[in-house]
Amino acid sequence: MPVPIIIDCDPGHDDALAIMLAAGDPAVDLLAITTVAGNQTLDKTTLNARRVCTVAGITDVPIAAGCGRPLVQALSVAEDVHGVSGLDGPMFPEPTVDVVPEHAVDLIHRMLNGHPEPVTLVPTAPLTNIALLLTRFPQDASRIREIVLMGGSTERGNRTPAAEFNILTDPEAADIVFRSGVPVTMCGLNVTHQALATPEVVARFEGLGTPLGDMCAELLTFFASTYRTLWGFPHPPLHDPVAVARVIDPGLVHCVDANVVVELHGRYTRGATVVDLLRDVDRPVNARVAVGLETDRFWDRMIAAVTALGARTPRERG
Ligand code: BDR
Ligand code: CA
Repeated sequence: MPVPIIIDCDPGHDDALAIMLAAGDPAVDLLAITTVAGNQTLDKTTLNARRVCTVAGITDVPIAAGCGRPLVQALSVAEDVHGVSGLDGPMFPEPTVDVVPEHAVDLIHRMLNGHPEPVTLVPTAPLTNIALLLTRFPQDASRIREIVLMGGSTERGNRTPAAEFNILTDPEAADIVFRSGVPVTMCGLNVTHQALATPEVVARFEGLGTPLGDMCAELLTFFASTYRTLWGFPHPPLHDPVAVARVIDPGLVHCVDANVVVELHGRYTRGATVVDLLRDVDRPVNARVAVGLETDRFWDRMIAAVTALGARTPRERG
């Protein structure tokens, strides 16, 4: 049976492909897509989710907008990485998929309680919506099978030397999630930096011969340009689909058990995920932490999902 999941995202180039992976892979049942402020403001990330669903032919999955700012601090977006729109690169048609008139947290709450089995949450963005859910509806914790998130790192950060963007954008929310008692799997930069969209990968998307394959190639080409300029990466890392891949096939993303705490006060380290890989301290294990990726199989799965979705949106030949 496919695993029921909800993606909470801030599209975002890699979020866009995470949505496609979740919608196009038969191992998961995508119940809903919720949006949050992160890579861009909430209006833009929500518009982008609608754009992605429109071009990918995902018309049967509700989209709900959530929190427009982090729990405590001001929002700081990643325009330098994802552009002014949050999804710069391709030209998108006017979206035909709309949002539902419900706050993301209410939609997740309703879905968790309406589904016959516990649901897996896959946050690929700041954890504001998820923290609010756990705070407003603490009893919902028992309805969540697992939270498999993209965020943090066992090593260095990407927005500061110590902190990764999703955690740094809302450290208080991340702290709530890691201390919630819900099983958490953390797919951090140490693993997502193995999912590099090389020219060969981009060529595979182009080679699909579908508008959606071309769209993915254009997204990755823009993403490559900012990663090259900002950080000197030879190829851009496709962070967010790694979390989806972990749910699709746990063997794709190798994990170890560890204690993870979020640094809230460090003058230079706020937002860092402190991961006790060597069991140096006596804090209890509260997370599975991704440490390795089956890269080739990951890309095969990603391409297969876009192939399946692309078959729903036949190429307009002209
Ligand atoms: C994370 O930050 C965002 O820019 C990406 O979408 C990803 O979720 C990587 O640090
Ligand atoms: Ca994201």
